[in-house]
Amino acid sequence: MIEILDLWPTRIVRHVLEDFEGPNQELLKLVREWDRSKKNLTTDYRDNNPFNVDQPATNWLREQVNQSVIQYLQAIGIDYPANWQIHGWANVNRNGDYHDPHNHPHCYLSGTYYLKVPKAAEKKRQRSDLRPNSITFYDPRTGFNMQSIKGDPYIEPEYTVLPEPGLLMMWPAGLMHFVHPNLCDETRVSISFNIILKWSDDYLPDQ
Ligand SMILES: [Fe+2]
Repeated sequence: MIEILDLWPTRIVRHVLEDFEGPNQELLKLVREWDRSKKNLTTDYRDNNPFNVDQPATNWLREQVNQSVIQYLQAIGIDYPANWQIHGWANVNRNGDYHDPHNHPHCYLSGTYYLKVPKAAEKKRQRSDLRPNSITFYDPRTGFNMQSIKGDPYIEPEYTVLPEPGLLMMWPAGLMHFVHPNLCDETRVSISFNIILKWSDDYLPDQ
């Protein structure tokens, strides 16, 4: 019998959290306070970890992230205990702000939780293929779309999402991604995080 293998998958978590409205208001308040009092909130990301704050909304978000990590590990077939810490930071993108293609070294998973995303760009005369405020993930296997034909799963070298408030996304930390520019005067606010594994010899594969 013929066997068709599905090798080297890239698993991405996409989850709109339940009852996010209340916590989002509190988290937005916290990020705005930090944004007022700290000069470089987003680029000084090591000093502003919302997951170290003990408030109902930050505790709620920590629990949601931890549950998502547990579900991700189960989905990829890891059936033994793992331990991690969450390193997070807030992002406030104003008109023109973007984050060029990058990945997150020295961690296992990365993610973003969205507090506020402007609905649409202001009506300027711009290219119709712009996707302001979206996030794009790129196929880590360079060039796999080159020989693709209609209908095969490798035809799109990228995956783009226009986030909405309450959305939690999480992906393998090595995956390249790009945060498209904000093109309007309303802010785009999110909390990003890295999942850093606490080392255990259990992680070593059988060889
Ligand atoms: Fe990132």
